[in-house]
Amino acid sequence: MADKFYLTTPIFYPNAKLHLGHAYVVTLSDIIARYHRLVSDKTYFLTGSDENTQKIIKPAELEGKTPQEFLDEKVESFRSLFTALNISYDQFIRTTDQKVHWPGAQMLWSKLVEAGDIYKKEYEGLYCVGHEAFITDKELVDGKCPDHGTVPERIKEENYFFRLSKYTDAITQKIESGELAIVPETREREILSLLREGLQDVSFSRPRNTNSVGIPVPGDDTQVIYVWCDALANYITALGYGQDETLFKEFWPADVHIVGKDILRFHAAIWPGMLLSAGIPLPKKILVHGMVLSGGKKMSKTLGNVIDPEELLTEYGTDAVRYYLARHISPFEDGDITREHFKDAYNANLANGLGNLASRIMQLAQTHLTEPVKLTFTPYPKGYTDALEKFEVNRASDMVWERIKALDTSITQSQPFKVVKEDLERGRELIAELVRELAAIDLLLEPFMPETSKKIIEAIMANKKPENLFPRKD
Ligand code: MSP
Repeated sequence: MADKFYLTTPIFYPNAKLHLGHAYVVTLSDIIARYHRLVSDKTYFLTGSDENTQKIIKPAELEGKTPQEFLDEKVESFRSLFTALNISYDQFIRTTDQKVHWPGAQMLWSKLVEAGDIYKKEYEGLYCVGHEAFITDKELVDGKCPDHGTVPERIKEENYFFRLSKYTDAITQKIESGELAIVPETREREILSLLREGLQDVSFSRPRNTNSVGIPVPGDDTQVIYVWCDALANYITALGYGQDETLFKEFWPADVHIVGKDILRFHAAIWPGMLLSAGIPLPKKILVHGMVLSGGKKMSKTLGNVIDPEELLTEYGTDAVRYYLARHISPFEDGDITREHFKDAYNANLANGLGNLASRIMQLAQTHLTEPVKLTFTPYPKGYTDALEKFEVNRASDMVWERIKALDTSITQSQPFKVVKEDLERGRELIAELVRELAAIDLLLEPFMPETSKKIIEAIMANKKPENLFPRKD
């Protein structure tokens, strides 16, 4: 029976260009969303941008733009990258959207207040402007922030705090009972050991100053909501929480939040704590993926190993990029991409693999069959659906490529091109069988490579060789 399926990506910071790591997150999410639509689940796929950050003020000034112009342009570039990757999101939420996002975030804040979990406290600490956050003495290297190389300021301010410490046991119980599943298990163990140390209360607001961006604290104009009750709230405000709750009622709780390991703690500790406090059901799962590296190292400008997704898309096309991200990067561990490996994988598995197979078979069909082969629906193999239910997109795509290889081998062995000359009917039947298996494989390609899948099925239905799907690259 079909279910509802609500999945979310993290919301992206607009202060920098998106790189291949970000492209990975949205592509992985898109494959999962498309799979759920394929099995007829009522699917809702949310992505967006995390915009209430002071980090954009300087870059905007440098480009001679107002913060709003700067943000609008960045968001446009995110959307156009997502279009180029064929990401089928249902909604793109912007946290600067005062109609969609702010009322819900403020409502959530008020619920935390009602639960008695927000209190005011004077806070003194080392503030790093680059991080827009307090950092601890322990994190400093030679008295400086190791990421920004700047000396932090000692500041004293009044903030509202959220009583996260109160929820340590409740969150632990939810995770241990599997009500809130953290996938893979290694990440679940990581979070459980963090919980065993006990959670600390967290700063939930900042004093408003001239440069302040963000959502005013309800009932206290001198403070703005800090990160957590702003960014994390997007997952429910997008569904109309606190306003028109039609979508919220239909889709919450989230079936899966897809996040990188660097933001696991926020999603598996702070977010559940907030939801428990507000009396809102917890998400069912958090899928924690690894980082995409290049040549074993974090992509960085100084190392010169940054791979721009747009560049790959222009050179190889959408489905080639989706293919690589799906099959050659594990959703649970750090993955790797280099231009060389990308090209090798492309030539071996797309140009010589899938592309060549489709063209070989359809060439035979076009030459020897008088009409398109009649197709019957073949159910999805259990191994394939099991893998995709568990988010193992690499394993599911491996299964598809095993069938591609097997079909290639069977052409070589059965030699239909010879058989048609000796026994036309038997030859035709052989070719029709090959076409049927190509169609069955093609069906499984849909979540990974929707455009290619469509082109192949159209070629089959027209009994025509498809255009050259993946030209060889030298
Ligand atoms: N805005 C926060 C998330 C708030 S969610 C309520 C944020 N934004 S981000 O733009 O910095 O990162 C978004 C996502 O991209 C994170 O999940 C992060 O793990 C992921 N990635 C950033 N670099 C990555 C790689 N190199 N590889 C894979 N994912 C990477 O964090």
